[in-house]
Amino acid sequence: MAPKKRAPQVLCCNATREAKIPQSRTTAAIIVAAGRGERAGGALPKQYRPMHGRPVLRWSVAAFAEAGVDNIIVVCAAAQADACAVAIEGYAATITPGGDTRTASVRAGLAAAGDADVILIHDAARPGLSAEMVRTLVAEIASGASAVAPALPVADTLLRTEEGGRVVSELDRAGAVRVQTPQAFDGRAVRAAYAAAAESMAFTDDLAVVRANGVATRVIAGDPRLMKLTYPEDFAMLERMLAGERITCVGHGVDAHRFGAGDHVTLCGLRIAHDKGLVGHSDADAGWHALVDAILGALGQGDIGAHFPPSDPQWKGAESERFLRHAKALADAAGARILHVDVTLICERPKIGPHREAMRARTAEVLGLPLDRVSVKATTTERMGFLGREEGLAAQATATLDRPA
Ligand code: CTP
Ligand code: MG
Repeated sequence: MAPKKRAPQVLCCNATREAKIPQSRTTAAIIVAAGRGERAGGALPKQYRPMHGRPVLRWSVAAFAEAGVDNIIVVCAAAQADACAVAIEGYAATITPGGDTRTASVRAGLAAAGDADVILIHDAARPGLSAEMVRTLVAEIASGASAVAPALPVADTLLRTEEGGRVVSELDRAGAVRVQTPQAFDGRAVRAAYAAAAESMAFTDDLAVVRANGVATRVIAGDPRLMKLTYPEDFAMLERMLAGERITCVGHGVDAHRFGAGDHVTLCGLRIAHDKGLVGHSDADAGWHALVDAILGALGQGDIGAHFPPSDPQWKGAESERFLRHAKALADAAGARILHVDVTLICERPKIGPHREAMRARTAEVLGLPLDRVSVKATTTERMGFLGREEGLAAQATATLDRPA
């Protein structure tokens, strides 16, 4: 069958236009964040939960601020005022209390927005907002539109069903779009529409309110990243969409310690009885030292000596678990994920084989990795060189990390 021609798009795209907010217009953004997020579940309402380490609400505040919107108003529930203040910290945004329905919350936002020329109304639950989208919407209103919203075409067949899933009818998909926010309005038009709408009416979006008042409304090309967080699984999906480019990096580490007097060595976190000890400033765990350097290498963050200077007395006799946990914390802070680590211990004695699995398990535990992502191996140098003469013990490691580019 010949491929079906795509239906003509109802969307127009302004991506090529260099959209700027005109200086002569005053702009206000109302972010409604007073919902309870019941469908999303979780201890905190969805708009205060983290998305790539930042509260969901903060993403939208940042986009409106970057676009140069004059007045950013966040409508939040009185009970969440503290969480809201934390989420907007550092931005020139004002908080106003919301209502029982989204429509009531928008009304509260409009009251706070005064007589702004252009008003954008946005769901806090849509953190994938770009400054470019904000500028494009404002430019649409500045060039004469009364009400504009981003929207995406519908790719799936639309059915009307009833309780139990029985299909009642097929809906006509031609021209159907999924409307997103922010929705941008001529200030006078949206104020008049809300003034005309009965207080008791609850709308799911604001285009509907102005349409009910006879205002022409239109849509422009939306953005998949503007999806609304509604259900628990939406968080992981959007987190992936907002992740940006990632790269896989392999870091490599090497360490060696001299044998000295003692009755044990510590390797990969395990104390092993031996007729010698290892000499070092800390616990001389060459395996984990090499591994820490491998992780730091993959992060491009120097080496173990730079993070834990041997000259600093606080690291004297320190357990290397602290160093490894620190390296893991640095990876977490960089938004990196340790995918796999591989440590090779090089020595004639002690024999590593009997302890190998316990070393893997300890390393996996500290790094929070499944066992099959951790390898510990051992080899000798066939009695050659300083390792062969048992003057010391060495280790090499690699760490593979997935991290932001
Ligand atoms: N909202 C609001 N005031 C309300 C209800 C909703 O400001 N009384 C906001 C939400 O915080 C959200 C947006 O409107 O940013 C869209 O609503 P929705 O996705 O339905 O969020 P919730 O009402 O919080 O979620 P749920 O319906 O699952 O409880
Ligand atoms: Mg709701």
